[in-house]
Amino acid sequence: MRKPNDISELKRIADRYATFAADEARGSSEIYERLAQAVADSPDVLEFLATLPAERRQPNLFLAAVRHLFGVPNGERQLIDIVRRKHESIRELMLSRTTQTNEPARCAVLLPLLARLPQPLALLEVGASAGLCLLPDRYGYDYGMARLEPPTKDAHSPPVFECRASGAVPIPSALPIIAWRAGIDLNPIDVNATAETAWLETLVWPGQEERVHRLRAALAVAQAEPPRIVKGNLVTDLAALMAEAPECATLVVFHTAVLAYVASEIHREQFAQAMRGSRAVWISNEAPSVFPDIARAAPPTPRRGLFLLAINGRAVAWTGPHGESIGWFGP
Ligand SMILES: C[S@@+](CC[C@H](N)C(=O)[O-])C[C@H]1O[C@@H](n2cnc3c(N)ncnc32)[C@H](O)[C@@H]1O
Repeated sequence: MRKPNDISELKRIADRYATFAADEARGSSEIYERLAQAVADSPDVLEFLATLPAERRQPNLFLAAVRHLFGVPNGERQLIDIVRRKHESIRELMLSRTTQTNEPARCAVLLPLLARLPQPLALLEVGASAGLCLLPDRYGYDYGMARLEPPTKDAHSPPVFECRASGAVPIPSALPIIAWRAGIDLNPIDVNATAETAWLETLVWPGQEERVHRLRAALAVAQAEPPRIVKGNLVTDLAALMAEAPECATLVVFHTAVLAYVASEIHREQFAQAMRGSRAVWISNEAPSVFPDIARAAPPTPRRGLFLLAINGRAVAWTGPHGESIGWFGP
């Protein structure tokens, strides 16, 4: 029989999947909402997840692993049946891969900040995945009231990211000038390795075909001239890469959807302190829970699930988690 501690562990996993279903998947992917809720309600699947290390139990990772191996289950019963019969191969994939979703459309919410800094920029992204957010000057943007396109058209037509702008967003009139760019990631993704880009595609939720199209278009842009991504940990290895940035450009260290993966609050705070004490402009686009001090100074979020955009520790906008909206309240 399970001990009380184990039971509360299963409950924690169930709560996490139920929250994912209600707060993240609802309205974005109907099938993932149903499947995540099915996990929350299935003692067998919860038992399976409990056998994995705590950092490998995320709904995104589990659902992507099942999909990568067997396609999207057509409903609750098929999902539970797959886990019962194929749990070993699901476990193997969940232990060998991580959630590295690279969403290039997040550049649309970074652009208003990047464009108003002294140019040119030295861009350094922490948690870069395949580095698609390191190419903000190579994509197009449609903010409704304004549209920007990269000046030169190469063989691949760049994606144009639509972003709903509200509030006094400083919509840029020109793309930023990037003199130097580099990324750091625990596991850099090679944009020219088919198996790796296939995993990136699997991480996009079913029903979000538009995201798959723009991912492919951004990958084509990156494949023509891949950004440099160094393997390393943002907590321990960032200073060496920052030291490589040229002095003649404005150094910008940025991250989107990354610091939530740094489990230790102490490490997140150390990172924030290092950024505040550095010569870099620090841009953070993360869930508000990641840096509670920054979030405390922001107005209430208009809805759950938004990210908070901040520059040098000062919150300026609520943003759609995939770059689909920006609601400006900053100066
Ligand atoms: C969800 S992806 C986001 C990728 C990209 N920033 C974007 O917005 O599209 C998170 C990335 O952060 C990386 N990551 C997580 N913890 C890290 C750490 N401590 N140091 C470096 N990279 C890390 C992961 O490997 C993954 O590629």
